[in-house]
Amino acid sequence: MSHATKPMIARAGNPLAGTIRVPGDKSISHRSLMFGALAVGETRIEGLLEGEDVLATAAAMKALGANVHHDGPGSWRVDGVGVGGLCEPELPLDFGNAGTGVRLAMGMVASHALTATFIGDASLSRRPMGRVLDPLRDMGAEVLARSGDRLPLTIRGPETALPISYRVPVPSAQVKSAVLLAGLNAPGITTVIEPIPTRDHTERMLMGFGAELVSEQTADGARILRLTGQPELKPQAITVPGDPSSAAFMIVAALVVPGSDVTVENVLLNPHRTGLLKTLEEMDADISIENVRETGGETIGDVCARHSRLKGITVPADRAPSMIDEYPVLAIAAAFAQGRTRMLGLHELTVKESDRLAAVADGLAANGVPYEKGEDWLEVTGAQSVKGGGTVTTHLDHRIAMSFLVLGLASDSPVSVDDGAPIATSFPAFTDLFAGLGGRIDVQTEDAA
Ligand code: S3P
Repeated sequence: MSHATKPMIARAGNPLAGTIRVPGDKSISHRSLMFGALAVGETRIEGLLEGEDVLATAAAMKALGANVHHDGPGSWRVDGVGVGGLCEPELPLDFGNAGTGVRLAMGMVASHALTATFIGDASLSRRPMGRVLDPLRDMGAEVLARSGDRLPLTIRGPETALPISYRVPVPSAQVKSAVLLAGLNAPGITTVIEPIPTRDHTERMLMGFGAELVSEQTADGARILRLTGQPELKPQAITVPGDPSSAAFMIVAALVVPGSDVTVENVLLNPHRTGLLKTLEEMDADISIENVRETGGETIGDVCARHSRLKGITVPADRAPSMIDEYPVLAIAAAFAQGRTRMLGLHELTVKESDRLAAVADGLAANGVPYEKGEDWLEVTGAQSVKGGGTVTTHLDHRIAMSFLVLGLASDSPVSVDDGAPIATSFPAFTDLFAGLGGRIDVQTEDAA
């Protein structure tokens, strides 16, 4: 999936006002398709995120033998092949920009006796895959990679995979999930130890699909997961809640654009995903959460955010896993906060769709926001007004593009991004939803530039 570059620009204007829904959660959308493909029978999915990342996963599940039907907006059916039933794909599986898609799919494939090649765009081809390939090798998979453990690469699964016990060396739900997905087709018990717990959608959903998975919390806060291999997964009816990582852009925009009052309905409030809300509350954000309810084993609610006088705080390192995708937009909130906002424990940010620590710092510099940074921390000095006027390099990173467009909605001069095309990977409706709230974000034509 390659795109024409799409420069975009955001300008300050009216207050943002209204009630919206953001598209389905990306993590749950990928998993719905994958677990559906491994179940026996038809899984129905409503509210699937139809961004490029998830569409790549849908195409990969088809190529691996599942029947995947698109019935209408957000509405999908997956007729699964059962654990152990995946077919060898004829062509390379192209995951575009999607780290979650490719890493979880590598786990699925690695315990099946088949060969599959994985490819992706320039951003995905730079990202480290060793963190997933190491445990998959221990389970018996062979890996052929042209340059280090990076894409493009080919995985050949063993006749019978070995169940392993694996202590995840980095706090990564993708690594945990890849091992659990491989463990589904290994006889016996696969154990994953997470010293620092991360988002738990894989565990919740696997249990919902009928897998035997036991989770235990140790005294030091680590989590031990024991999965019994080769279950028959039962098809499910899934309704995907709104993505908190997408809602984050509207919430922060409402906080920093004067006079704004925005409600985002139906947002996933899984405690492993609410670090940004907690942080913004500590910054004195005027946020309320209403209509909290349970659906499909997850808590959801409506998040109301109003323009606020924010104050700088220190965000502790141990909060990183619960807001790992939200630091770029938190940096925008911090740019408008009184005093300094210090964000610690950011090492994982450097291996996302781009090196987000560097990309955020460069974007702040281009728009006159003072900051200091170290290897794994960032400190932003906020002010009531931000100059703006810069052009930000997005490095094929959707969240860098969206975060700095939010900055432009509130800065003195408009903010441009060199390429907004990657926004379509996770949030195709981003610009339209902002337009509905009164936000001015446009594709930049040469005349307007
Ligand atoms: C995800 C896990 C996180 C996150 C990504 C989605 C998932 O990555 O950044 O956007 O769905 O498991 P890591 O697990 O590598 O931190």
